[in-house]
Amino acid sequence: MPTSCATGAGRIRWSYTAHLVGVALLFGAIAPLDLRLLGLWSTTPLAPLARVLVPVAGSGLALALLTGPVLFLADPRRYGPLGLFQFKLVLISLAVFHVFWVHQSPAWTTGLTSQIAPAARLRWAGLISLTLWFSVLLCGRLIAYV
Ligand code: HEM
Repeated sequence: MPTSCATGAGRIRWSYTAHLVGVALLFGAIAPLDLRLLGLWSTTPLAPLARVLVPVAGSGLALALLTGPVLFLADPRRYGPLGLFQFKLVLISLAVFHVFWVHQSPAWTTGLTSQIAPAARLRWAGLISLTLWFSVLLCGRLIAYV
């Protein structure tokens, strides 16, 4: 049925665009925040930076998580058995768990109020977060080539 086919193709196109907007918002916000945790721009207080970047990253994550399954359902028999796709989902789970773990930690609460260089634990958190999200990005991109 051409009409439903066209509607399906349109839905995939819009989901794909929205997925990429979500990824861009997520990574665009998380990268500067993680670099700040790693010690860059150490004279810039963490609290106002986090107040702006955390909701932007959260919105991007929500958009990517909502649109990802729509893309998956376009061709579940291709994506389901794909090791790279499964690895991407594991990385996303780890990265999301890591976000909640860091945000409830005393180091994060102290980091938000203190003006001094971030604690070693927060530096590690920045490095782990950057590595996990960058790996998710890479997996997502590489799926197109396998
Ligand atoms: C939340 C973090 C996520 C990030 C950072 C992310 C990242 C990406 C990236 C970079 C691409 C490649 C876009 C391109 O072609 O340039 C992509 C595509 C895709 N994503 Fe995600 N994604 C996320 C979540 C999800 C979830 C939760 C699912 C499914 C359950 C999903 C399913 C897909 C599918 C099916 C594609 C198309 C792959 C292809 O055939 O090229 N994504 N994603």
